[in-house]
Amino acid sequence: MLNNPIVGSIELRNLQTLKTNQIKLFRINGRRIVVAKAEEGLFAFEDRCTHQGASLADGVVICGTVQCPWHGSQFNIKNGTVKPVRQERQLKRLS
Ligand code: FES
Repeated sequence: MLNNPIVGSIELRNLQTLKTNQIKLFRINGRRIVVAKAEEGLFAFEDRCTHQGASLADGVVICGTVQCPWHGSQFNIKNGTVKPVRQERQLKRLS
């Protein structure tokens, strides 16, 4: 069982098929919670991108980072921090 004071409890049988870099959406007490499996273990976070609210359950997890499916924001799944935007992603201004 995954116990978290904020998330609540998720039965382990619901997580047994989860492989590394996979994510699964749960609805717990009216909240949408995403559980992701990384090399270091399981991590839970709310299913809402801080940019414009996309479902992170539809995103991709790689190496401890979840990428939002709408505009590509990336979050560290272990501590929730947003990863800095890379310089090469900025537009080149023409005027
Ligand atoms: S809604 Fe997630 S990056 Fe825009």
